[in-house]
Amino acid sequence: MKLDNIVDVIENKKITENFYLMSFLWNGTEPLPGQFVNISVPGKFLKRPFTVFNYENNVLSILYKVVGEGTKIMSDWQTGLKTECLGPLGKPFALDNNITVMVGGGTGIASLYYLSNKIEGEKYIFLGFSSSDESRYFYEIFSKNGSEIFISSMDGGYGFKGNVIELLEKEIDNIKGKKTIYSCGPHKMLASLYRFEKYYDIEKIWVSLEERMGCGFGACLGCAVQTKDNNFKYVCKDGPAFLLSDIVL
Ligand SMILES: Cc1cc2nc3c(=O)[nH]c(=O)nc-3n(C[C@H](O)[C@H](O)[C@H](O)COP(=O)(O)OP(=O)(O)OC[C@H]3O[C@@H](n4cnc5c(N)ncnc54)[C@H](O)[C@@H]3O)c2cc1C
Ligand code: FES
Repeated sequence: MKLDNIVDVIENKKITENFYLMSFLWNGTEPLPGQFVNISVPGKFLKRPFTVFNYENNVLSILYKVVGEGTKIMSDWQTGLKTECLGPLGKPFALDNNITVMVGGGTGIASLYYLSNKIEGEKYIFLGFSSSDESRYFYEIFSKNGSEIFISSMDGGYGFKGNVIELLEKEIDNIKGKKTIYSCGPHKMLASLYRFEKYYDIEKIWVSLEERMGCGFGACLGCAVQTKDNNFKYVCKDGPAFLLSDIVL
């Protein structure tokens, strides 16, 4: 399997106040939902990890926020720029035949879009944002593939006023049948999902973690997460998705 790729930027644009969408021409191995790529940024020793937001017709896209120097440099990249990109990395989400419930907050929503495009059957997507501007934009994007969408925003200007976990709590009993939850977002949000383990019809809760990474392939031990049996797993090689019941957040 070829993991080391030179990619061409096809498009890189600011789509909302906080988010950028970048697409690359991708001739490497086809990624699966839940996997990520590690992107080289000139002048930075460590590559930056980003979830595969979508993959279609040899075009791989990432959805990102500018949070530091690396992402600031990336936000200025123009069409035609070439960079090194390692991937697809990490284990893909494990799929099953249950009803799918996805829960995303902030940049965590990036892990759910490709998954929602690949999963057939009943699916419900809960997305939480800080502002109604983002809520509107992503409602349009995610509702294209037949999922039922629930939106929360902290300012209450669009959808439910409050956080996405409160919204999930309000709606979960209306979704009948055996469910699997796939989630990605801030640690605090993911940790709030422990309380959903008590629901008899939620069989599995997968959480995709975005820990700080170094090497990205299991060598530096910098992305450790503690397991319930007092061991460690590594987000880059054992994850990024884990069963919530196996780890300590
Ligand atoms: C598996 C995985 C998937 C991710 N997917 C996305 C995504 O789809 N969209 C998105 O906006 N962000 C995502 N992140 C977070 C993203 O990698 C960081 O925001 C980015 O690396 C910050 O780089 P920087 O140089 O701008 O920030 P700096 O703070 O200057 O980065 C310094 C170092 O810390 C690392 N780092 C900083 N913040 C994070 C973080 N939150 N997670 C991991 N490493 C970090 C950087 O890679 C770099 O090595 C993901 C992280 C992981 C681990
Ligand atoms: S980032 Fe180095 S071991 Fe995971």
